[in-house]
Amino acid sequence: MEAYKPGLEDVIAAETQISYLDVEHEEIIVRGYSLLELIRSACYADVVGLLIDERLPDAQRRHELEQEMIRASVPEPVYKILAMLSPAMHAMDRLRTALSALAGFDPEASTADPEREQAKAPRLIGQIAQIVANLAHVAAGRAPVTFRSDWSFAENFLRAIVTRAVTPQEVRAFEQALIAYSEHELPNSTFAARVVASTLSDLYGSLTAAVASLKGPLHGGANEAVIAMLLEAKTPDGLERLIRERLARKERIMGFGHRVYMRRMDPRAQLLKEVLADLVKAKGTGELDLVALCERGEQLMRTEKNLYPNLDYYAAPVYYALGIPTELYTPLFFAARSAGLLAHIIEQHRENRLYRPRARYLGPRGLHYEIRSHT
Ligand code: CMC
Repeated sequence: MEAYKPGLEDVIAAETQISYLDVEHEEIIVRGYSLLELIRSACYADVVGLLIDERLPDAQRRHELEQEMIRASVPEPVYKILAMLSPAMHAMDRLRTALSALAGFDPEASTADPEREQAKAPRLIGQIAQIVANLAHVAAGRAPVTFRSDWSFAENFLRAIVTRAVTPQEVRAFEQALIAYSEHELPNSTFAARVVASTLSDLYGSLTAAVASLKGPLHGGANEAVIAMLLEAKTPDGLERLIRERLARKERIMGFGHRVYMRRMDPRAQLLKEVLADLVKAKGTGELDLVALCERGEQLMRTEKNLYPNLDYYAAPVYYALGIPTELYTPLFFAARSAGLLAHIIEQHRENRLYRPRARYLGPRGLHYEIRSHT
């Protein structure tokens, strides 16, 4: 009862075979492989196979996974429910509702059997991607876009969002962001999913809890906050002013800091920074010089606060350069992370022990209820 760490900082709360943040070596290990290597060279279906099947797929399995994700159809009533929600509702809240509704179309929705969960995970990842791709379309009264089996999963996903032809470089940048977001040990949303799963509740309930967690600006919501800041700043000087003002007001600068990396750069951010630079080089700078802006913010935060960018700081401008609507940034984080979340839920169900910690009581004792007349 004595050991208490606020926010469970540095507390080991699970044993896992899925991933490990090797901070000292600036490496993220996913089932034995380097996540950075996967971001550089793999496709998203490889990572889905690695996370869900627990091994990298061969060419045939990769094709099967890709097709299963592409062909996973979203039941029409789920889109109807989405269409009934107010477009003013936050996209993560709409996604949470859609995910809940999806359970109603899975005859095995309540199973906590890891084998069954493993079998249906690729389809669920595909359905989540299609729901996310269509969130803005449905809210605007447009018909949902369906995925086509002659395009890759990443190309389908990006084209469905931006509704235009895309270059191979854009598809690759989008896919690299998907892989970068796919798995990251035990952040708040993954912990939330495992906590719910530990009651032997099902995939849908556990994932819905994760959506709620990921919405928060201290977690997945940071990517939206980053682009809002860059758009408000407009120029590197503007960003410097804005950050200084916010720091003077003791506000947090979104996209900086990390519970595990804190005084080091998130290795995923470094890689996405390179992806951003290449993308901007090919597409042209446009009105907003994203590279110069981000660089100024990064340098300033290093000198002023000894704080470094996390993945959200560089994923946000990559999404902006791709023309993705801001309201989809955090849902995209969730869609990418669904593979990692499902792996964790399945692992929890394989080696389950109910999460039930204790709290240190700081309130009074010895008070007595007095029987009073109410007349
Ligand atoms: N801006 C300004 N100051 C900061 C920031 C920031 N972004 N992050 C940490 N600090 C300061 C904080 O004020 C504190 O200073 P002091 O010791 O003087 O009070 C010190 O650094 C330690 O902060 P903490 O709150 O104890 O650290 P934490 O481990 O609880 O916070 C964090 C981690 C991610 C919540 C935090 O860094 C933060 O709020 N960052 C901004 C939001 C963000 O970018 N979130 C995305 C996280 S990474 C990807 C993801 O999970 O989505």
